[in-house]
Amino acid sequence: MFTKHTLLAFVGALALAAAKTTTEETPTQAEIDAARATTLPYSPVSNVKGLVFDRFVDIWLENTDYETAASDENLSKLAKEGILLTNYFAITHPSEPNYCASAGGDTFGMDSDDFLQIPANVSTIADLFDTKHIAWGEYQEDLPYAGYQGMRYPLTGANEYVRKHNPLVLYDSVTNDAVRPRQIKNFTTFYEDLEHHRLPQHMFITPNMTNDAHDTNITVAGAWTKRFLSPLLKNEYFSKDSLILLTFDESGNYTVPNRVFSFLVGGAIPSHLKGTTDDTFYTHYSIIASLSANWGLPSLGRWDCGANLLDLVAEKTGYVNWEVDTSNAYINETYPGPLSDDNYSSKWAVPLTTGECSAGHGIVKVVKKTYDGLKPTYNYTSPVPYDATTGNNVGIKYHRTLHGKKESGVTGQ
Ligand SMILES: *[C@@H]1O[C@H](CO)[C@@H](O)[C@H](O)[C@H]1NC(C)=O
Ligand SMILES: *[C@@H]1O[C@H](CO)[C@@H](O)[C@H](O)[C@H]1NC(C)=O
Ligand SMILES: *[C@@H]1O[C@H](CO)[C@@H](O)[C@H](O)[C@H]1NC(C)=O
Ligand SMILES: *[C@@H]1O[C@H](CO)[C@@H](O)[C@H](O)[C@H]1NC(C)=O
Ligand SMILES: *[C@@H]1O[C@H](CO)[C@@H](O)[C@H](O)[C@H]1NC(C)=O
Ligand SMILES: *[C@@H]1O[C@H](CO)[C@@H](O)[C@H](O)[C@H]1NC(C)=O
Ligand SMILES: *[C@@H]1O[C@H](CO)[C@@H](O)[C@H](O)[C@H]1NC(C)=O
Ligand SMILES: *[C@@H]1O[C@H](CO)[C@@H](O)[C@H](O)[C@H]1NC(C)=O
Ligand SMILES: *[C@@H]1O[C@H](CO)[C@@H](O)[C@H](O)[C@H]1NC(C)=O
Repeated sequence: MFTKHTLLAFVGALALAAAKTTTEETPTQAEIDAARATTLPYSPVSNVKGLVFDRFVDIWLENTDYETAASDENLSKLAKEGILLTNYFAITHPSEPNYCASAGGDTFGMDSDDFLQIPANVSTIADLFDTKHIAWGEYQEDLPYAGYQGMRYPLTGANEYVRKHNPLVLYDSVTNDAVRPRQIKNFTTFYEDLEHHRLPQHMFITPNMTNDAHDTNITVAGAWTKRFLSPLLKNEYFSKDSLILLTFDESGNYTVPNRVFSFLVGGAIPSHLKGTTDDTFYTHYSIIASLSANWGLPSLGRWDCGANLLDLVAEKTGYVNWEVDTSNAYINETYPGPLSDDNYSSKWAVPLTTGECSAGHGIVKVVKKTYDGLKPTYNYTSPVPYDATTGNNVGIKYHRTLHGKKESGVTGQ
């Protein structure tokens, strides 16, 4: 699965693996310059066939209510080229726990944008991809060098790159590794990888704080999306058999339901589905579950376990998604945990180690081994994340019909 080219790149990578990278919150510019001179980005390639797509591109914009994004002409036009997801929810507020959730299947109580690190015994999508050598990467605009761990860049002045919008850098199981940090790259490397046909099969893309609407507004983000995505959709190498998700980390207003404007585009979408809408209930956790179902990967045993699958994937696997009654769903708060500022609990959540998940391929070995025999902290088979102890997201009803039999549930009961 790895080409000769990649193996050579890998050997070269090992030579630089010991390069000094700084892991502190606020490194000096001199430290950054030194690391930049010695740290080489790493771009593995692979070609593992998926049920629905061979590449997944996850692009996140920032802090915008559904209706506001839907009213942007550039975004609404792009959505019409693919499938508009009308019932996709973020997990909580503010930004960082949403990015964290997209990689590790939980927030661990995170309710801030602080400098936080998640212990090495917590697994991520990188562990899932590595079970089948599926090449993955992140592209973070304005990251000063591959694997940079600081809080922001540049160190002063207008925000460009920020750590809080970088999912995998939060996890010690990624940053402690000799090679993985170098798969977290910037847009310079994105265009190099595009040109040399060495883009990974999974990538997470974060535009800078101007382009993602964080420091600006939806017009700026919509124009950036159009400028960035339109040429890529016409690029055969990028788009063929690819599924691209454009979504938002969270809604802008904290007191409204945390539903975010989201659409799928790309060559993997069958023509009869182009220009359609999909009203299935999804969360950021649905994406992890859909990646697993598409490539036959195990689950993290966290909130990805019970999450609905993207409908076009579910259709292929035969999984029946839950219909969720969202009339009462805000999904806008975090339950207590070891990363909470406001409601601390020392308990690192224990994932599921046995049982069936929506993706249908069990739970990843490293999780089974680490948490063997421990009782899971939450009911991770639920399609909606909740905590019955504190009342977080309780009282949300869901149902489905399986083999002619109606099943239903209410979170927290
Ligand atoms: C992107 O990263 C590469 C290598 O990691 C570095 O050489 C380059 O200067 C970076 N580009 C920007 C715009 O920061
Ligand atoms: C953000 O990225 C754009 C290019 O995509 C660049 O022009 C701009 O200088 C960057 N930073 C800020 C703070 O806007
Ligand atoms: C966003 O800001 C630009 C100016 O930077 C302005 O022209 C545009 O109308 C604004 N859009 C919205 C939706 O407020
Ligand atoms: C759409 O995006 C383009 C840049 O690709 C920009 O020139 C145009 O003004 C945007 N349209 C609107 C209505 O914001
Ligand atoms: C946020 O939503 C609440 C409840 O719908 C509304 O009262 C408030 O005006 C909104 N705030 C902003 C800034 O739009
Ligand atoms: C979540 O939304 C509810 C209902 O609007 C509101 O009472 C609550 O304060 C919101 N939570 C946060 C963290 O803003
Ligand atoms: C995982 O690491 C955390 C932090 O070091 C620790 O508190 C927890 O007990 C560990 N969990 C297991 C199952 O080893
Ligand atoms: C956990 O969630 C599943 C799936 O929704 C449900 O069938 C089960 O009753 C729940 N278990 C508990 C203890 O709430
Ligand atoms: C904090 O956690 C306690 C239980 O540990 C819960 O009763 C309370 O509602 C929580 N408060 C907030 C603000 O989430």
